[in-house]
Amino acid sequence: MRILGIESSCDETAAAVVEDGRQVVCSVVASQLDTHGKYGGVVPELASREHLRAIVPVVREALERAGAGFGGLGAVAVTEGPGLVGSLLVGITFAKAVCFARGLPLIAVNHLEGHIHAVVMEAEARGEPVELPALALVASGGHTHLFEVSRGWNYRLLGRTRDDAAGEAVDKVAKLLGFGYPGGPVIDALAPHGDPRGVRFTIARMKGNPVDFSFSGLKTAVLRWVEARGMEDEIARRRELLRANPKPSLEEWLAVTPRATLDLLASFQATVIEELLRRAQAAAEEIGARTLIVSGGVACNRGLREAARRRTLPCPVLFPTPGLSTDNAAMIAAAAFPKYARGEFAGLALRARANLALA
Ligand code: KG4
Ligand code: ZN
Repeated sequence: MRILGIESSCDETAAAVVEDGRQVVCSVVASQLDTHGKYGGVVPELASREHLRAIVPVVREALERAGAGFGGLGAVAVTEGPGLVGSLLVGITFAKAVCFARGLPLIAVNHLEGHIHAVVMEAEARGEPVELPALALVASGGHTHLFEVSRGWNYRLLGRTRDDAAGEAVDKVAKLLGFGYPGGPVIDALAPHGDPRGVRFTIARMKGNPVDFSFSGLKTAVLRWVEARGMEDEIARRRELLRANPKPSLEEWLAVTPRATLDLLASFQATVIEELLRRAQAAAEEIGARTLIVSGGVACNRGLREAARRRTLPCPVLFPTPGLSTDNAAMIAAAAFPKYARGEFAGLALRARANLALA
């Protein structure tokens, strides 16, 4: 049984065909990075317009690669939320039109459930299904959440960020320092060239829920560090480099990034990683998790993957392959499969829900 997944919640227009919830037949992602990069973040109006431009060619390419038209599908799954409402609407409207014209069932998927199912799907494909209960850390540009995942794909929210998402903090620090958008991949590439103990940052101590996250204090600490050093010339050189070449190589970045800044990046990234893993570990211990799932764009981070491998965790940790960590539609089609089996279909009155909660 093949499901066509459609994802358009933020700045990626994506379509994918997944068979039986586990085999990715094809996955097409059209990124809008070139559109938003120069603004240092996603511009919602531009995002909707780009989705409108991309949705038909992206779905067409997915169906061509799958080697079958709409006739070979059992259902269409689409991201209902959370996300940018104008962006979500493009995917939802398109999915509804396909379902109406072809008499196919429509399945609504929460974007965060999709991120979790990227890992579930790959584990099933390997023939080693995820053992439940699992603790899922979803860390992306928009979210940093900890969920308990139990049988029947039920979710319970255990903790979340009180201010910035992890990816958002990384993107803001990168922008401040002149590294452009998105910041995650650049900082990830440069961090191994600095000393993670070069700058001391402390992890926020918070009252209340011990597995909530906070990243704004860390971001402010970086800002103070930069202000105290008067780094304008250095930052200007990097902005200059970005203007001349929107995708600098590692060597080009290293040529305009002094040792002290590399130490700053390494220390900042190490602190973000420690914040994520420490609270994920505490939550996993609390619920007696049998698997730790890490997903979302930040799960691409090589430092995070290495730190998770080195750490003594109470259970095995699973990351998606990098292409399925960031936004894609295969994860949406995968998350829809159990809903299909349960007959959980959405009507054509389905609406975009910008703040849709998973639990
Ligand atoms: O899941 P995603 O594609 O979109 C959202 O749902 O937000 O995540 C994008 C976020 C951005 O903040 C980006 O900087 C971050 O994921 N990211 C990374 C890496 N690759 C992407 N953060 C750290 N290290 C990376 N390698
Ligand atoms: Zn996402």
